[in-house]
This record gives sequence, structure tokens and C-alpha cells, in this order.
Amino acid sequence: MSQSPARRTVLRGAALAGVACFGAAACGAGEESGTRPGSDAAVELGPASDVPVGGAKLYGKQRMLVSQPAKGEFKCFSTVCTHMGAILNKIEKDQAVCPLHGSHFEVATGKVAEGPATRPLEEVPVKVKDGKLIAG
Ligand code: FES
Repeated sequence: MSQSPARRTVLRGAALAGVACFGAAACGAGEESGTRPGSDAAVELGPASDVPVGGAKLYGKQRMLVSQPAKGEFKCFSTVCTHMGAILNKIEKDQAVCPLHGSHFEVATGKVAEGPATRPLEEVPVKVKDGKLIAG
């Protein structure tokens, strides 16, 4: 039995929707990247000693970075780029770098060092408890 044109159209539409769904799933990470990390609850990041004095450490899973501009002074920022929401994935010297369009942010302050981003990273409260960093 042959399929009617309308049925073929519906099936083709479903197939395309499947493709679109895959596309959406692939883009889902991008959409997710716009979420605010640590906005609801405190998150334990690990030993404070992991963050070098004068440097920073990325916490990819938590989408945060922690810097230690001076001994015992910690700053925490979201790694969601303020340009278009990509996740910063690299630290070069004292700057975090966005892989999408190359914005650079100062790890000590969250300020933009190089665009296209124009807004600083979102700062997240951080404290040290029992030698561990607690963000949020
Ligand atoms: S999304 Fe980061 S520079 Fe464009």
C-alpha cells in the first residue's frame, strides 16, 4: 500500500524534527552555558591550596574559576562568557580566555581585558571552610 502525500509529508516532517532535535541537543550545551552557576546553593570546589597565589584555577564542571590575587584572598567568578555565553576554558597568565570569540578576562577582578565581551564576569561569593573552597 502506498503512502498518501500527506502521510509522506508528515513523516518527512518528523524526520526533520528528529534532525532538528539532534541539532537542539547539540546546542543544548550552549543554552545551558547561559545558566548561572552556583546561583542556588553553595558548592564545594575542593582544597583552597589547589589555587596558586597570583594565579587561578578553572572548575569546569561547576563553571567557575577561583583566583588568589594575594595569599589567603580568594575571588570566584562564573566562567560563562558575558559576550554570548560560551564557557571560558583556558587560563593564560592572569587571564581567562573564551574559546568562542577570544575574549579575555582578568582572573583577579573578572574585568574584560580584551573583547568582544564588554561586561565583567559574574562574581560568585567564595569562602574557605576547613581548607576547602565553598562557592555560592
Ligand atoms: S562568547 Fe565569549 S567571546 Fe563571544
